[in-house]
Amino acid sequence: MIRTIQTTPFDGQKPGTSGLRKKTRVFMQPHYLETFVQAVFDAIGGAEGKCFVVGGDGRFYNDTAVQIILAMAAAQGAASAIVGQGGILSTPAASHLIRLNKTDGGIILSASHNPGGEDEDFGIKFNMPNGGPAPEQVTDAMYAATKTMAQYTTLDAPDVDLNTIGTTHLGGMLVQIVDPVTDYAALMETLFDFPAIRARFAAGFTMRMDSMCAVTGPYAREIFENRLGAARGTVTHATPLPDFGGMHPDPNPTWAHELMAEMMGPNAPDFGAASDGDGDRNMVVGRGIYVSPSDSLAILAANAHLAPGYAQGLKGIARSMPTSAAADRVAAAMGLPAFETPTGWKFFGNLLDANKCTLCGEESFGTGSDHVREKDGLWAVLLWLNILAVRNQSVTEILTDHWQTYGRNYYSRHDFEAIETAKADQMMAALRAKLPQLTNTETHGMTIARADDFAYTDPVDGSVSTHQGVRILFTDDSRIVYRLSGTGTQGATLRVYLERYEPSSGNLNLDPQTALAPIIQAAHDIAQINANTGRTEPDVIT
Ligand code: G1P
Ligand code: ZN
Repeated sequence: MIRTIQTTPFDGQKPGTSGLRKKTRVFMQPHYLETFVQAVFDAIGGAEGKCFVVGGDGRFYNDTAVQIILAMAAAQGAASAIVGQGGILSTPAASHLIRLNKTDGGIILSASHNPGGEDEDFGIKFNMPNGGPAPEQVTDAMYAATKTMAQYTTLDAPDVDLNTIGTTHLGGMLVQIVDPVTDYAALMETLFDFPAIRARFAAGFTMRMDSMCAVTGPYAREIFENRLGAARGTVTHATPLPDFGGMHPDPNPTWAHELMAEMMGPNAPDFGAASDGDGDRNMVVGRGIYVSPSDSLAILAANAHLAPGYAQGLKGIARSMPTSAAADRVAAAMGLPAFETPTGWKFFGNLLDANKCTLCGEESFGTGSDHVREKDGLWAVLLWLNILAVRNQSVTEILTDHWQTYGRNYYSRHDFEAIETAKADQMMAALRAKLPQLTNTETHGMTIARADDFAYTDPVDGSVSTHQGVRILFTDDSRIVYRLSGTGTQGATLRVYLERYEPSSGNLNLDPQTALAPIIQAAHDIAQINANTGRTEPDVIT
């Protein structure tokens, strides 16, 4: 039976960098999720006759949310839904299913790399028929719809059995429960030289993949252990758990510390990797050496042609503005267009759809290509494996060779978390106000060439996004970027991005924190971080 439920609007249902993210208990309030789902359907012109992919990273409330979404879609006339078994789909796998089945989009449940559980975070986002996150015009329409929401419709029906693969009905809607891994793994086999990688594993190549008790466990086991022949147990923390086993599933040196300890230890495998809650992020590590995400993007771009899926070359390379310029150097050397977009994967979608670029990346452990419209953690790991197999070199050799060819963009990001929102806003406002006076001034022995607030004009649809981060650009190509996170759920997170270029003739083997020391000092002075926020040290350094 279709039921119409009266409700009143909730404050703050504004999608951020990647969908709506809140504490799980906020989502568990009566009508909260339903209001947002109704706003999604309203913003895309209704669910009638449409087909949606539905799934999430398995965190607490994932299964309940899937049932709520299916009941509302069925009540509102959706034709069909494709759902990952158990309600599970990694974000890149969901993006692939949306494209493969030519659906009308998908609803993905995840708060990405944020911890999960009843007292942690939950999230929801809508992806378009191209498989990519909804662009700003659409998320703005969703937010507008939430503000006046008075009612939603849903179906009174027993829960769908999410665990049994096959086809069933919910009201008039067809529900297909699919294996979350099969189609994704098949796509990976089309892109990479599985026999070459398998041969390397057979010859003794060793790897550790830390899935951090999040969604990639089943994908990684199937691909690395079953299809590529990596030793059993290569994938650790391989069972997705509702609270990620208490882990913070953010693949960076701070949170993936078990992997880091093993990779820096005496018995390190040849190659290590980790992925995040929903499987779109990755960190790669060699034996005794960490690969920064910005360098990883540049190296993948320089070597992608070694993988069959990219053998014909790249169309262009895109990076988010705060990501280091290492990838730009590769693009320049290869005569390829380079794009600089605001933070957030959604800005890459138009470039990919218009065939302007093939590879994209962000400093925040996100890399991907035109095979889907999300960043893709396991894809990046597989491309690394393909390159390592073909070049038959270690990660250290490949990194060293890259810096000797292109020079090194020393890079680091310092995060100051859970700052009082008012203080963070005030600091950014003061910083923006003084930008015009900074040009040609000197600080810590460096001269500021330009200071601005990054704005982006999409080269495909002409849309303009302003206030995307304050940039301080120095005459020697060094750079500081400040922005406030759009994904945090507690207070404000200040991100300070630091970069310095060292040509190949210079010292390529410094610790990045040492190489960046004067820039770090300048970053504190220019924004008066301590005076404004009371913080002297960042909470997380990547
Ligand atoms: C963060 C990252 C950004 C990424 C996003 C979603 O957003 O910085 O690069 O696209 O998560 O994974 P932020 O919290 O900085 O707004
Ligand atoms: Zn993620």
